[in-house]
Amino acid sequence: MSADVNLGGDVEIKWVEVPEAQDIWEGDIVDAAVDGEQVIIVHHLDGSYDAFQGLCPHQEVLLADGKWDEESCVIACPGHLWEFDMKKGDGINPKGSTLYRYPVKEEGGVVHVGIPQDGEAHYTKSYES
Ligand code: FES
Repeated sequence: MSADVNLGGDVEIKWVEVPEAQDIWEGDIVDAAVDGEQVIIVHHLDGSYDAFQGLCPHQEVLLADGKWDEESCVIACPGHLWEFDMKKGDGINPKGSTLYRYPVKEEGGVVHVGIPQDGEAHYTKSYES
């Protein structure tokens, strides 16, 4: 299964195999450096995958080290407990921040994350302190 992300225009996507995500169970998360970018990959209970920026928009702590609840699909950052909906990438508490979402696909048990070749930073940052 794959998650489609509308990048608009004709942005070229570089699909990168992510061995770290190869054998994670449904309901698990894993962090990985993908083509130099820190990414968190979620293997949902329904078998689908999502991939988001792996560093918290607040102060760049590794989200995968946070408290993860696979039923609610919510992760709490270990830094200051900001919570994110890992289906949408939206901030729950506080609201207003959003994780950058990467395209992701799984083919034959191999997970690939798409890195847009657009020269942009694939990362959002909150300016709340
Ligand atoms: S670094 Fe994540 S909540 Fe502060």
